[in-house]
Amino acid sequence: MIVANWKCNGSKIMIQDWISKFKETYVTSNNSYIGIAPSYIHIEHLSNNLKANSLDITYGVQNIDLSSGARTSAISLEMVQDMSCNFSIIGHSEMRIIFGETNENISEKLDLIAKSLDVILCIGESAEENINNQTREILKQQLEVINGRDLSQSFTIAYEPVWAIGTGKTPTPNQINDIHKFIKDVVQSSTVNNIVPKVLYGGSVNENNAQSFFNEDYVDGALIGGASLNGNSFAKIVNIFNGVN
Ligand code: PGA
Repeated sequence: MIVANWKCNGSKIMIQDWISKFKETYVTSNNSYIGIAPSYIHIEHLSNNLKANSLDITYGVQNIDLSSGARTSAISLEMVQDMSCNFSIIGHSEMRIIFGETNENISEKLDLIAKSLDVILCIGESAEENINNQTREILKQQLEVINGRDLSQSFTIAYEPVWAIGTGKTPTPNQINDIHKFIKDVVQSSTVNNIVPKVLYGGSVNENNAQSFFNEDYVDGALIGGASLNGNSFAKIVNIFNGVN
């Protein structure tokens, strides 16, 4: 599973260019779920262009709001479904840090969307927490939002250390593997149906380092920011994941 998080980037021209570059490089394979989370405003343009180019890429949103009505600037579940989005990212560290999203907000969002959309829940420790060896403790706190839930098989976690996002730094593949194993164990023991979720790694993934992460047993894919903005780079990473590079 390889998902592009375009964050607050993109334009109609960029989407056209992205699709032609993706097609140049992508080797067709049925191996993986490929997703893009564009800005809300570009969803329709992206979906029309994916369809026109017969690309089997799914799309979703980077966040979702709790309800509809008098909530200026918000986007509701009904709107997201109306645009045929398949998934929502929630709890991205930029939402937590810039927009003050809390575990409580994330838990309310899970109540709302967990049964209706594929969910990609982002968790990750800060640089300071990492240095202080608090990574597991912090991840466990962030995972409290899934306690006692009956989650679907499409529920996915993205492990994204905050210090690795957009910095060019990453944990070692081995460290990532150990953390992913830990996350799977925590989710399995905290959910009522004991699901073992897919766990994606996110944070400075690019075409040069992707293979080293995908070699690890507990890495089920990647959530990619910067390197996903170029259709060639993103396609290269998908090809690496599919073993067709
Ligand atoms: P990055 O971002 O790939 O640019 O580090 C990843 C993310 O924030 O999801």
